[in-house]
Amino acid sequence: MSTAQSTYSKGLEGVIAAQTEMSFINGSEGILEYVGIAIGDLASQSSFEETVFLLWNKRLPTAEELGAFTTDLRANYGLCDSLKARITACPADAEPMHVIRTMISSMAMDDSSPNENSVEAAREKSLQILATAPAIVAAFDRHRRGLEIIDPDPSLNFAGNFLYMLNGEKPTPAMIRAFDICMITHADHGLNNSTFAARVVISTLSDVYSAITAAVGSLRGPLHGGANEGVMKMLNQIPDVEGAEEHVMNMIKNKERIMGFGHRVYKSKDPRASELMTLAKQLAEDTGNMDLYNKSHAIELVMEREYASKGIYPNVDFYSATTYHCIGLKLDLFTPMFVLARIAGWAGHVIEQLGDNRLFRPTTDYVGPHDVAYVPIEKR
Ligand code: CMC
Repeated sequence: MSTAQSTYSKGLEGVIAAQTEMSFINGSEGILEYVGIAIGDLASQSSFEETVFLLWNKRLPTAEELGAFTTDLRANYGLCDSLKARITACPADAEPMHVIRTMISSMAMDDSSPNENSVEAAREKSLQILATAPAIVAAFDRHRRGLEIIDPDPSLNFAGNFLYMLNGEKPTPAMIRAFDICMITHADHGLNNSTFAARVVISTLSDVYSAITAAVGSLRGPLHGGANEGVMKMLNQIPDVEGAEEHVMNMIKNKERIMGFGHRVYKSKDPRASELMTLAKQLAEDTGNMDLYNKSHAIELVMEREYASKGIYPNVDFYSATTYHCIGLKLDLFTPMFVLARIAGWAGHVIEQLGDNRLFRPTTDYVGPHDVAYVPIEKR
């Protein structure tokens, strides 16, 4: 006997669980828009700061509004002493994703009203989390390398300031722009798993920190944001471009999933993958990493031949691996980069949810037995 009152959809495929004005995805034609603007136009003409404003306000800012938003963000770049102390108390061998999840959760303790859930309060907390997250990642990475933590430079944009705090040197304009494009392309993406997690948590009227913490936990999974690290591991296992075909064919033969390919919504090439492919190629040329780019491209060609008929194409994580490597990031910082960008989307969805909340409480289709006699423990 089934208790299902409506259709069961494994993995909630095709289920509409929220309304949003932030991003639109057409999976068959490979279209992604933020508030109606094509992702390619934003990647080529906008900045991450402007993209965040767009997502949180559902319109582009005037120059004055963008200036004010940027000033607010930069004013919150740093780490308070207690957060710095918690970061340096982390074991040096901790995974950065565990550190960033734990530190965002801990930020609630530095907030005098962490549970305030008005839309206005959620915006302020979101801005604080967005501005602080890069400092958390950079400070932990320097702490584990035994290096001094670098204070932020508010004269730099979000992308430039992160690279500066991480490396201790001012990045080149080309690197800043490349990282900025990565942030724009990863900022929001409909009701993906981590965004759903954030919306589910805030729908209980819990708090913004809990919602974003849950989202970070979801993102680190290898089927979601963790895939970019999986891509890099695969690329590292392939000795050269000639070895790409054999490696991928062996994976297919062994029924292994190829990280960076396939998507629940896209059944054509993810438009973000197209943007990042162009960026990865340029960066690879500039940084002497063409071998890596060529290996990536060779994998894409094999996958296109073998899997395009099943609608499996490169997703955002595929070329972001090459891009992050060329920017000089360590492998275990790849998924944290996704966090830095996606906080924009998670926070925007939290704000939307709070603006028109109803508790998420789906149901299960009970498929177990009924009328089972209770057997006392000594008789089992
Ligand atoms: N390599 C090989 N086979 C695949 C892949 C892949 N990357 N992706 C899907 N398939 C096959 C899968 O084996 C299954 O085949 P069959 O029907 O013969 O059993 C079929 O395609 C459907 O797979 P599914 O897991 O039911 O589909 P889904 O919609 O749940 O999968 C996905 C979406 C992203 C989990 C999956 O494509 C995947 O595991 N990709 C690799 C991990 C990855 O790159 N994740 C990043 C996703 S994009 C960014 C983000 O959201 O974080």
